[in-house]
Amino acid sequence: MTFREFSKQQVPRIDDTMIHFLTETTTEKNLLESMVYSIQAGGKRFRPLLLLATIDFLGEPLKNGAYQVASALEMVHCYSLIHDDLPAMDDDSLRRGKPTNHKVFGEATAILAGDGLLTEAFHLVAKSDLTADIKNQLLGDLAKASGTHGMIAGQMLDISNENKKISLSELKQMHGRKTGALIEFAVSAGSQLGSAPVAVKEHLKVFAEAVGIAFQIRDDLLDVIGDETVIGKKIGADAKLNKSTYVSLLGLEGAEHSFQQTCTLAQGSLQEAKKLMGITQQTILEMILEELMVIDK
Ligand code: IPE
Ligand code: IPE
Ligand code: MG
Ligand code: MG
Ligand code: MG
Repeated sequence: MTFREFSKQQVPRIDDTMIHFLTETTTEKNLLESMVYSIQAGGKRFRPLLLLATIDFLGEPLKNGAYQVASALEMVHCYSLIHDDLPAMDDDSLRRGKPTNHKVFGEATAILAGDGLLTEAFHLVAKSDLTADIKNQLLGDLAKASGTHGMIAGQMLDISNENKKISLSELKQMHGRKTGALIEFAVSAGSQLGSAPVAVKEHLKVFAEAVGIAFQIRDDLLDVIGDETVIGKKIGADAKLNKSTYVSLLGLEGAEHSFQQTCTLAQGSLQEAKKLMGITQQTILEMILEELMVIDK
């Protein structure tokens, strides 16, 4: 199976899970419209696909509970983007090729749509078809990844580091939190749902950390060399706000080099995990990494 086929098969189920749950739980029409607008605006669905591909890598079937956790993760991600685009944050007007949420629904509704997606994500996991033990574990892990130790901390650093020269290790920490944490959750949740042996879990963890950093370096690069019609966002947004990025710190070539290095690290860990699992055929996880490594402008 190719990655495209996997994605074509899985994305509708992720989308349906999110839409059905939000429709069932939301009473206010405007709020629902605003949340659904951002969810249906597109998006690569990178994180939920990574979660499902990790379970697939471990040779386990994809059950309903996995789709619910994957969908909850995408809801947290969508919320983070709505808030990231707000005038008080990155003040962006284009997202996924469409006007940003606050441009269409106004700031107050956009803030509430973000709050709604975040809260309902946890509601969805709490109601999911999983055993109490794993549910508990995943609720805690998702809170940690999205919370004040993870993504929110990273977003705080991103704002505090505007107009500042920070070190490479500080930058890496920031990327690991603002973007890496949710990506690491995708793989660790997949590892747990797929019952990964301890040693395999360790390699997958290193893989996920590297993918998380690489993903944000790529995003930093695309903000400079990307094409607005392809990435669906206005380019040059980071320079405009004097953000600390891989490109601002290392230059284009330096950022590209770091990107390749980080991807190579991810590839190495994935190969180790593959060996331990005794897998010989190409896996969807490898295909996801290959897709990531091609920077289409
Ligand atoms: C954008 O994430 C924000 C970052 C963390 C870099 P994605 O590149 O996954 O955005 P969508 O979901 O495909 O729109
Ligand atoms: C976003 O980083 C990280 C989030 C947690 C949303 P960016 O601000 O670089 O993401 P884009 O470029 O707006 O998608
Ligand atoms: Mg931002
Ligand atoms: Mg932004
Ligand atoms: Mg960006």
